Amino acid sequence: MAPGGRGQCPLVGDRDEVLQLPEGELRTDPGHGARLIPVLLKFVSRNSGFTEALASLRLFMKEVLAMSKVTFHHDGGLAEVVEAEPGISLMRAAVHNGVRGIIGECGGQAMCATCHVYVREPHLDALPGMSEDEDEMLDCTVAPRDDRRSRLGCQIALGGDLDEIEVDVPAGQV
Ligand code: FES
Repeated sequence: MAPGGRGQCPLVGDRDEVLQLPEGELRTDPGHGARLIPVLLKFVSRNSGFTEALASLRLFMKEVLAMSKVTFHHDGGLAEVVEAEPGISLMRAAVHNGVRGIIGECGGQAMCATCHVYVREPHLDALPGMSEDEDEMLDCTVAPRDDRRSRLGCQIALGGDLDEIEVDVPAGQV
């Protein structure tokens, strides 16, 4: 095939694989963006200088797909939704994202109760067990303790079965 003609591309390989998407549709149909990802990965993997970039890209995609979604409901019907990486506590996810009403004064040591939340029903079964320290501290919350739903946000690790959770934020923590 003559240079500039259709056929073997030095970077991607078979040009027909890349050129099969009509130009006009690329700009209008966001679904084509997803279809281009395998082409991009193929390009990156065929160029040895990009091996590390490919590994980073795969890791990035894995982490993005594993992010947990946390919804904080406030009085009056307002809600804040944040995404957090696996392993981080619900309290840290809130503090890092400036969620109102979650303070985390002791830094996650189960010693202040300023990360008190009421976990919503569908997620109660996925919660980790409660330690004695957390149980004792929940008797010191400013807002009344709910025996079924009250937890300390710093003792709830996100990820795994908790890839999504919704909680109500008490009106007061201090
Ligand atoms: S941050 Fe202090 S008890 Fe959770």
